[in-house]
Amino acid sequence: MARYELVKGSLALITLTNPPVNALSSAVRYGITEKIKRALGDPKVKAVVICGENERFCGGADIREFAAPMRGHSLVMLFDDIEAGEKPVIAAIEGVALGGGFELALACHYRIAHSKARLGLPEVTLGLLPAAGGTQRLPRLIGIPAALELITTGHHVSAQEALKLGMVDQITDENACKMAVEFALRAVAKPLSSRRISTLTMPCPPNLDALFEAVTMQVQKKARGVMAPLACIQAVRAAATLPYSKGMKRESELMASLFSSSQARALQYCFFAQRTAGKWTLPSGAQWSNIKPRDIRRAAVIGLGTMGRGIAVSLARVGISVIAVETEKKLLETGRQMVIGMLERDAKRRGVTASLYLLQFTLSLQDVKDVDIVIEAVFEDMSLKKRLFRDLSKVCRPSTLLYTNTSGLDVDALAGVTDRPHMVAGMHFFSPAHVMKLLEVICGPRSSSETIATAMSLGKRMGKVCVAVGNCPGFVGNRMVKTYTDQANFLLEEGATPEQVDGALEEFGFAMGVFRMSDLAGLDVGWRIRKESGLTGPDVDPKDPPHRRQGHRYSPIPDMLCEQGRMGQKTGCGWYVYEKPGGTEAKPDPLIQKLLEGYRVRYSIQPRKISSQELIERCLYVLANEGFRVLEDGIAVQPEDIDVIYLFGYGFPRHRGGPMFYANMVGLGRVLDRLEHYHHAHPDVPHLKPSQLLKKLVACGSPPIQKWKEHIKTMHSHL
Ligand code: NAI
Repeated sequence: MARYELVKGSLALITLTNPPVNALSSAVRYGITEKIKRALGDPKVKAVVICGENERFCGGADIREFAAPMRGHSLVMLFDDIEAGEKPVIAAIEGVALGGGFELALACHYRIAHSKARLGLPEVTLGLLPAAGGTQRLPRLIGIPAALELITTGHHVSAQEALKLGMVDQITDENACKMAVEFALRAVAKPLSSRRISTLTMPCPPNLDALFEAVTMQVQKKARGVMAPLACIQAVRAAATLPYSKGMKRESELMASLFSSSQARALQYCFFAQRTAGKWTLPSGAQWSNIKPRDIRRAAVIGLGTMGRGIAVSLARVGISVIAVETEKKLLETGRQMVIGMLERDAKRRGVTASLYLLQFTLSLQDVKDVDIVIEAVFEDMSLKKRLFRDLSKVCRPSTLLYTNTSGLDVDALAGVTDRPHMVAGMHFFSPAHVMKLLEVICGPRSSSETIATAMSLGKRMGKVCVAVGNCPGFVGNRMVKTYTDQANFLLEEGATPEQVDGALEEFGFAMGVFRMSDLAGLDVGWRIRKESGLTGPDVDPKDPPHRRQGHRYSPIPDMLCEQGRMGQKTGCGWYVYEKPGGTEAKPDPLIQKLLEGYRVRYSIQPRKISSQELIERCLYVLANEGFRVLEDGIAVQPEDIDVIYLFGYGFPRHRGGPMFYANMVGLGRVLDRLEHYHHAHPDVPHLKPSQLLKKLVACGSPPIQKWKEHIKTMHSHL
């Protein structure tokens, strides 16, 4: 796990050999410890260079080992030995020096980085802190403010930024290892005392307290309720105020408190879930590893509204030429300007030239005849979409793949009107499509594996986190979110206010509560869907009372808001009131308070005080309950897929792991008990009725989430 060579007669070259990123597994730790001992003990060796195989220095700890307490050789002792040694040790950084990998580099006396290398301490993103001296050495090297920024955010920096900050001594476009060897020969003669970072005097700004207070407030605002960044601040504070050995002790105590926390478990689960989600499998055995996607060069986007614009930008950004189609000249022109503006801003931010030459705008569907794929983003109206898909079958060449960005309509019904049902699937982007990372790929029963593979690979190329799901109303994300928003609406009827519900959800960790989020998205989006499914509007069964639809409890309050023109931020009012149409500062609206009171009086509902606990349980347990049904129905293959959808598409707090992981953390038995309790109190809400899968898992002793798959009998996977 670490190779030892003697080069140039007097240099020990230690190469970490643990592909793909030379993670510091216990075998690697043992390897380096042995090789360092050998180098320091060999009188022939005058200096040491540490590098990594495959042009990657070291990606940090081996996260798979986090499941158990750290065993084997301690990195802290190893790094102290390297630093205290009397021979210069040079880190030759190629590729990455992240986490423990960068801490290893910090223990060396010099750091030479390749110009394309990335460096950083991302432990905080896994709910931890850099506990092998990173919080103590980095501030001594680059100062407290810069170290706080890097350690509390986990951001990586480029070699150029690292050089500016003083994290590395030199950068090179040549081979960093070769360069480090040359450097080492010259370093032999130089004194080492000023190169031992742990012995350096901390460059302390005068207003230390104010600095730490400001950073703490900033962190609390950005990552409400998240423990790790706060622990990082405390560790850096220890570096600023205590001698090195005492600071190290504090670092280790803080790490111990994080290591076994539920937040660290959740964040590490998210890390693996994200990787698992891209590995799709269909019941036929076709999967990510054995189906070749098509190479996509030319795409058409139909409809240049909110979604079409973002989709066009996402495609052009990765070099795909785009033909965008609209129905009217004015709409086409507006869309064109928006797309060009978005691409230009994006290119400026990334320091590249905007690829405007890839764009073409047209009013004629005929112009899409030669594209490789079409992504449809017209209004959420089944008859309109069917008409369009029929036309597309006639216009497009036989090999063109057809995708719909519908939020929840039947993908197979659209496939059915084409001449190529196997070449139709869903690509469900999230708004704004050029920003949001999630892409749900909807596999219709007739979608071919190549159609799915192409959507997944194209999504990945656009930088999306892609999850393959089955075809049912709302797919995974929107199917589940309906149960969550329904509960929030019922809670308003029963006595809560929008700000109370949002407050509880934001306290839980959501960046925005459900009502604030609806105002941002636009209340008309859901209204149109409810009209389409006969829940409101002329298709409602006249025998249904206002708060019952299709046999179940229904809250007409969101429809009442839309009827009054309260569509959310864009109209200046929705669940909240805003300073102007398009404003973003949500204020509680006394008119909503009045509307709710009037509603309760009209339907003889006695309002009650509802605890935050009930608000959270009703909204989130029902969400997980629907997640179990989604698994039961074979619409998602594994709980990780659902959690990834919620993390990247719905702002579920990452330190809670996602709705399924959260249910697992709470305890499935407790979730079942509470759902039974609430269903008993509200028998007309079927979503509160515990799902079969939840009951089954509890009956099997509530196995950990990684084992649920074994219990999910997907008799008929819809993927
Ligand atoms: P939008 O109303 O902003 O834009 C739709 C555009 O399609 C309009 O500009 C319209 O002129 C155009 N259009 C209508 N018929 C057309 C035709 N035959 N040919 C060419 N263009 C046509 O709607 P939005 O929000 O962009 O939604 C589009 C689709 O994306 C819908 O199916 C929606 O459910 C889905 N979606 C919407 C999300 C959102 O947050 N807005 C999120 C995810 C999916």
